[in-house]
Amino acid sequence: MKVAILSRGPKLYSTTRLVEAAARRGHDVRVLDTLAFSIVVEEDAPAMLYEGAAVSGWDAIIPRIGASLTLFGTAVVRQFEQMGVFTLASSHAISVARDKLRSIQVLSRHPVGFPPTVFLHDPARVAEAMAQIGGPPVVIKVLEGTQGVGVILAESVKNAETILETLQLARQHVILQKFVGEARGRDLRAFVVGDRVVAAMRRTAVGDEFRANVHRGGKVEHVELAPDYAAVAIRAAQILGLRVAGVDMLESAEGPKVIEVNSSPGLEGIEAATGVDVADAVIAHLEEQVLFPEVDLRQRLTLKSGYGVAEIPIDGASSLANARVGWSGLREREVAVLSIQRGTVTIPNPDDEREILPGDTLLCYGKLLTMRGMIPVARPVARTRRATDATRPPRR
Ligand SMILES: Nc1ncnc2c1ncn2[C@@H]1O[C@H](COP(=O)(O)OP(=O)(O)O)[C@@H](O)[C@H]1O
Ligand SMILES: [Mg+2]
Repeated sequence: MKVAILSRGPKLYSTTRLVEAAARRGHDVRVLDTLAFSIVVEEDAPAMLYEGAAVSGWDAIIPRIGASLTLFGTAVVRQFEQMGVFTLASSHAISVARDKLRSIQVLSRHPVGFPPTVFLHDPARVAEAMAQIGGPPVVIKVLEGTQGVGVILAESVKNAETILETLQLARQHVILQKFVGEARGRDLRAFVVGDRVVAAMRRTAVGDEFRANVHRGGKVEHVELAPDYAAVAIRAAQILGLRVAGVDMLESAEGPKVIEVNSSPGLEGIEAATGVDVADAVIAHLEEQVLFPEVDLRQRLTLKSGYGVAEIPIDGASSLANARVGWSGLREREVAVLSIQRGTVTIPNPDDEREILPGDTLLCYGKLLTMRGMIPVARPVARTRRATDATRPPRR
């Protein structure tokens, strides 16, 4: 394949390792400077210039977009997407992951733990916001910070107000997050490739520093992740739509708490700590994925009117609870079960014998009208919808 790595730093450890791995696996690979592209937006003819010449012939790109270039960098990636070039990370996933608030907002609807967080604008609201997340101390974070810069511990309400005001003067949006004290200056980085964790390390802050970032002097060591930590890391990456991700987690008293999902995770620390050839795993995964470009279910499956994809939560009262997929009557009603979500476990393509349990969420494709009738009626969301939705069938 012809593979382009989008990076500003051809000499950076991560970039050179990816180049070596791709070359070793027989690919024609080049590093292209993200800022040297010009994007040409034209109807039916998406194009780009690179250092003045038309861009063509690439099979895949590996975006390594630094935090300072998110807007331009994701625009370049998006243009490659329009041109039909496979990208290891989609422009959308990069933008969501880059923003600490946006990522946990997306994660919050799924069984992935993260520290309680509030986003606010008015410094006069700091006291009530802090009470909401368990009171001081709290961690204040700039939304798009990296390497520990813009992550501050506030010991009191007064302290937090001052920090918030100061950061706002610098036109920075910030979140307040519960301080996970039991992590004691340590965090975990799981390097996710596809549906597995290929390497993991623990970072430990030095001295009285609470931030474990390597750039803040944190020490790294190899760890074997407990299965629940690995599952959460993979889940978080998948929810954000990232095939390759560095997922940072804190070890809290209640288990894993995700604090960040990195779309261009560095290779140096993790390869040094674990001895794993992470670069090779990334390129091997890229080879597999190029054959199966991502499809957007919502764009493809809703083309026939009246059909679509829906999630159906199963409660104890549901007629589907404890039924087997093959005998649930779903198929007869033109509803196919694509997967079953059971806690943190996903059961893809369940067979006829698979039992549906209370608490499961079914991902289904089928007649929207039929599926709508299967949503439990007691849910507050369903109730508000009923008041405004005249097309809903009458209650049985
Ligand atoms: N809620 C928290 N409680 C305790 N420590 C935290 C919390 N959030 C972050 N940290 C520490 O600060 C470091 C940096 O935070 P993070 O959110 O990853 O920002 P950055 O993008 O700058 O790395 C983490 O690696 C962790 O050690
Ligand atoms: Mg971090």
